[in-house]
This record gives sequence, C-alpha cells and structure tokens, in this order.
Amino acid sequence: MIFPDSSLAFEDAYPDKPALLRHGLIDNPLFDIDRIAALAKTLPPQSIEYNRADLSVGHDPAAMPFNGLSPEETIRRIHDCASWIVLIKIEQDPDYRALMLRCLEALRPEIENKTGPIHGLASFLFVSSPRAVTPFHMDPEYNILMQIRGAKTFTLFPANDFSMIPPEAHEAYHALGRRDIGYREEFAAFARPFRLTPGDALYSPLKAPHHIEVEGGLSISYSITWRSRLSDADAHLHRMNHALRRRGLRPPAPGVAPGRDAAKIFAHKLYSRIRRPRRPSERGWRISNGRPCGGSREAL
Ligand SMILES: [Fe+2]
Repeated sequence: MIFPDSSLAFEDAYPDKPALLRHGLIDNPLFDIDRIAALAKTLPPQSIEYNRADLSVGHDPAAMPFNGLSPEETIRRIHDCASWIVLIKIEQDPDYRALMLRCLEALRPEIENKTGPIHGLASFLFVSSPRAVTPFHMDPEYNILMQIRGAKTFTLFPANDFSMIPPEAHEAYHALGRRDIGYREEFAAFARPFRLTPGDALYSPLKAPHHIEVEGGLSISYSITWRSRLSDADAHLHRMNHALRRRGLRPPAPGVAPGRDAAKIFAHKLYSRIRRPRRPSERGWRISNGRPCGGSREAL
C-alpha cells in the first residue's frame, strides 16, 4: 500500500488544505543513490536542474548559483558539495513511470471527486546536501512530496493570500515565468512548518508558497504532481489579467467578480487554442476512464 492510513487525512484536506500523510516507499530500490545517478545519465538536459544550495530562504529562485559539477557528480558527491538537484519528469523511465501511476492510483477517486479529471501528471526526484535550502517559491500544480531519506522542514504559507503575494506577482509568474514572488521577513507570521522524516508525505495545495531546509544529513525526496481544470483556470485568469494590465487596465483580484473571471478564463482559453493549438504529444499524462493515457516521449 503506498499511503497506508492516510486516505481520511487526504480526503479532509484536498484540494485547499495541506495534509501530512504516510507512505511506504522508503525501501524502494528506485531511490538508491546508484539508481538515481544512473537515471540522471539517461535524462535530457532540460529534465535536470541543479545548483549550489547554501542559500537564504529569500534568495531569488531565478538566479541560482552553479556548483561547477556535472549532474552525476553532483549526485555522487551530494554529501559534501553543498548542492541541490532535481530530476524532472522522471516518468520518462518506465520503472519510475509505473511507480508514479501506482502512487496516483491510490488517491485518484478522491482527486477526481473534488477537482475533476486529472492531467499533467509528473514526478520528480530531489537530492539535497546537508543543510541545503530551497528558497521561497510556489509551484503551479498540486503536489505530494514523499520523504525517502534524511529530514527536512517544508515550510508552507497560505495559497492565494493576495496580501502576501499580490495578483501582479501571480500574473508575472504565469505570463512571464517569473519565479521570484518576493519573500519578506514578515511572512514568517503565516508560516506553517512541517518536519518530514523518512515515511512522511506532505500534500501541498496548488501554488501554496513554500521554502525548504534540509537538516544535517543528505536528503532524498520524491514527488508526484498533477493538474486539473481548476488549476488550468487559475493560470488562464492570471494570464488574461496580465494582458489587461499591460493595456493600462486594472483587473480586480480573482474572486472579486466571479462572473467576469469566468468570462476571462473562457476568452483566454480560446485565445491560447487559436494562437497555438496543442499537439496530442504536449498534453502529458492524463487519466481517462480510469486508465493512464497520453504522455508520449516528446511530451515529457
Ligand atoms: Fe516547490
């Protein structure tokens, strides 16, 4: 069982609240360092990000310092190279693809019940040096992070609190890919830290800002992410508002005028389809009639 005794906690929390779960993947050989290094050798460069990780939580995520090593060296020397590496969309490897689908299957009924059909499934492996810091940022997907080795504190902040992260920052994030959402010391009052040790898993809601700090040993974490019609609508709305703001208008924050929000989402969706229709290969993994489909290699 992938998430033993965790279904009630997930059911209660999804999609808006965080939830601490348990997982049964600690001893899975796919998370041995040698297997991870072998995986890194097979992935294309765009599926690997890594950097030095002796940083502050407020460091600009768009300006990460290079560590001078190759991805494989970074993994093999992770004990002492003060770095962080993420392997992106590891379902390109069939073994990791099977694992991702098994993880999702355990939660699928509850997800579909609350947020409709699942798409954009992806999985990630994070390997971090002792005391590595992942600066404050947010992610455009629903996420469950499973701690495999070592301990880290995953500090979550409320999602969609526009007094913390203003609508303009959400718009720049979606429309321009700007990852720096502006950390301020006073945000600490809203922080909710979760200490994760092997066997713990944390569900974090869509775009809940967070920073992560690893404790004294190396850390390995695995995560699966997915999207829904709701997360797509959120991105379309912010992109549309960005376009309107560039034309000198002042769109209301999401939620203030729901009718107008719906019209803008519809218009932007249509505009995106006309401007650049998606090929089937770009749609990534989705679940249709209970079965995974799509996810061709180009999509990954
Ligand atoms: Fe993240």
